[in-house]
Amino acid sequence: MDEKKVSRFYDVVWTEYVPEYQESEKHWQLFYSPEEINDKKVLDGGCGTGIFSIIFARQGAKEVVGIDISRGSLSTAQKLKEKFALTNVVFQEADLLNLPFADESFDIVWAWGTVHHTRDPFRAMSELIRVLKPGGSILLAIYTRTKITFIHEFIRKTLIRTPKFAWQPLSKIMASLLWPVVALFKKREKSRKGEKLEELILDWYFVPIRHHYYPQEIKEYLKKNGLEIEKFLPASGRFDSTSNFIYKARKKRRAESSS
Ligand SMILES: C[S@@+](CC[C@H](N)C(=O)[O-])C[C@H]1O[C@@H](n2cnc3c(N)ncnc32)[C@H](O)[C@@H]1O
Repeated sequence: MDEKKVSRFYDVVWTEYVPEYQESEKHWQLFYSPEEINDKKVLDGGCGTGIFSIIFARQGAKEVVGIDISRGSLSTAQKLKEKFALTNVVFQEADLLNLPFADESFDIVWAWGTVHHTRDPFRAMSELIRVLKPGGSILLAIYTRTKITFIHEFIRKTLIRTPKFAWQPLSKIMASLLWPVVALFKKREKSRKGEKLEELILDWYFVPIRHHYYPQEIKEYLKKNGLEIEKFLPASGRFDSTSNFIYKARKKRRAESSS
């Protein structure tokens, strides 16, 4: 039921929105290189409109599977695949909480900004780890909990109680009120290229499910589940946003995990 709400939300909010390619690719390069992904099988868990699946595919992965619960987003991803004439990527509808893949079937698992939108982010992470091969790497970008998260959450939980037809107009009103503040701090230039402030507000304050974590909680979870942290970016998310932290971690091989 919760997943239905999330998929409907993304069908409306992100269906047409494809993050800027060059910026996304620059960010991807902070974590992976063509050499590292060459001949690898990749899962893009919660691929949205598919930008990172496309980047993996164009950078030389053998096979990329992008999954999402938003059919609208997946249809945009499919168009993007056709635009780039790619044959090494497939998009399919699937739930992060119950991945339809065998254990240890991917060399790389990428989940950018997704597990925190599920009903049970730890279950989503355990599913992503389950399908990852020993020796493979996982990348997670997750919303950071801060001292003011409770204020944002109070606003979001109030706003999502309003009727759905009011969400877009409300986002526009909030954007016009917030615009001077945002302009003042020159944040606008740093925000997602091609996306309007009202769309950012809709995405931030009207999403049905959102969880926030301290990096330490996720680090402990990953270590407990047999992963070694390889890279951590504390607050430098994509688009210069400080809302996410990112972990890249490697699943230990059996001999390493038993030693
Ligand atoms: C903020 S968007 C990120 C999309 C993409 N990873 C990107 O960075 O461009 C979050 C995505 O997670 C998807 N999502 C949320 N819950 C999901 C679930 N339980 N299973 C699969 N996808 C899910 C949403 O539909 C949405 O496309």
